[in-house]
Amino acid sequence: MTKIEKIVLSYSGGLDTSIILKWLQETYGCEVVTFTADLGQGEELEPARAKAEMSGVKDIRIVDLREEFVRDFVFPMLRANALYEGQYLLGSSIARPLIAKHLVGIAREVGADAVAHGATGKGNDQIRFELAVNALDPSIRVIAPWRQWTIRSRMQLLEYAEKHRILVPSDKRGEAPFSIDANLLHTSTEGKILENPAEVAPDHVYQRTVDPIDAPDAPEIITIRFERGDPISVNGKAVTPAALLTKLNGLGGRHGVGRLDLVENRFIGMKSRGIYETPGGTILLAAHRGIESITLDRAAAHLKDEIMPRYAELIYNGFWFAPEREMLQALIDHSQAFVSGEVTLRLYKGSASVISRASPCSLYSADLVTFEESAIAFDHHDAEGFIRLNRLRLRSLAARNGR
Ligand code: ARG
Repeated sequence: MTKIEKIVLSYSGGLDTSIILKWLQETYGCEVVTFTADLGQGEELEPARAKAEMSGVKDIRIVDLREEFVRDFVFPMLRANALYEGQYLLGSSIARPLIAKHLVGIAREVGADAVAHGATGKGNDQIRFELAVNALDPSIRVIAPWRQWTIRSRMQLLEYAEKHRILVPSDKRGEAPFSIDANLLHTSTEGKILENPAEVAPDHVYQRTVDPIDAPDAPEIITIRFERGDPISVNGKAVTPAALLTKLNGLGGRHGVGRLDLVENRFIGMKSRGIYETPGGTILLAAHRGIESITLDRAAAHLKDEIMPRYAELIYNGFWFAPEREMLQALIDHSQAFVSGEVTLRLYKGSASVISRASPCSLYSADLVTFEESAIAFDHHDAEGFIRLNRLRLRSLAARNGR
């Protein structure tokens, strides 16, 4: 083992990373700096400071990354209408490159030669962290305790904690908790009973959305304004990116919007089942598609939809800082120049439906499409020729195939 002088640990203050902190200090005998990112996970972060202090950490970093997260990661991804495997809004995937970026930044600042994370050896997150760190600074080593230590189960983890006098919350002694990852975009829940995809998820796994059955009987109408592809206001009130997503999470959660029960294909090779809650993100996806529907040219919109699965897969697989993701991003961003205007949606019992849209940059022409007499010159005979040319090959085929 090569000597390591200083490590920056991505630290939540929870049981796993508390144990990792101790293990790093013991195994490497060096200073560990803790970094706790506030991504809007809805947890108190000050306890993390107290716990790190108790473990003898001298340099404790707790950084509010909510605005950067939404502005520089969530919104660019939403411009693409990104969904992995048709359904997943990538709430965990998109947070990892941001955390990695700050791990690297702090490591450089404090002169650390390694960073460490608490992601396990079976998941996607280890890949995302490590590809991002390597893309940003290949000179920094990555330590992944879950792949290195001899602890193989939750029971052994608890034994290690007891032995080292690490406080184990009483509710963690009995039943193991779900594996939860939360931030401003989503809450993801995996493990335990959810590992059997044939089992219906119990209601208590849901944390930030009500069951659509219990949602208010009265629909709620909201408006979202977009400027060049990004949402800038809700119900006429201009707010910062993080405040906007927070607001929509509240509205969506109350109406049961954004629940997803999904079996997905992990990059590492296995299928996994998870429960996702993405209330604000689900509203924004519908709204963004709504404003694009009147402001994007057909071919531009279709091209975006063609590259979208590729772009989503790059984010899912951890290639945020790869040139191909940046190239696709440039294409997507370019397409958004006129994606401005206002969308009205109805939130009702689990759904977020666009009910109207308007834009000063609209390509929609009522005059052109109208069933009534139109002022715009549209020669119906042109349509006849259009069909005649397009049918040519179909007629040849039908003749040969003897339909
Ligand atoms: N499967 C999701 C993804 O790879 C979520 C992973 C993190 N979630 C968790 N509960 N640990 O993006």
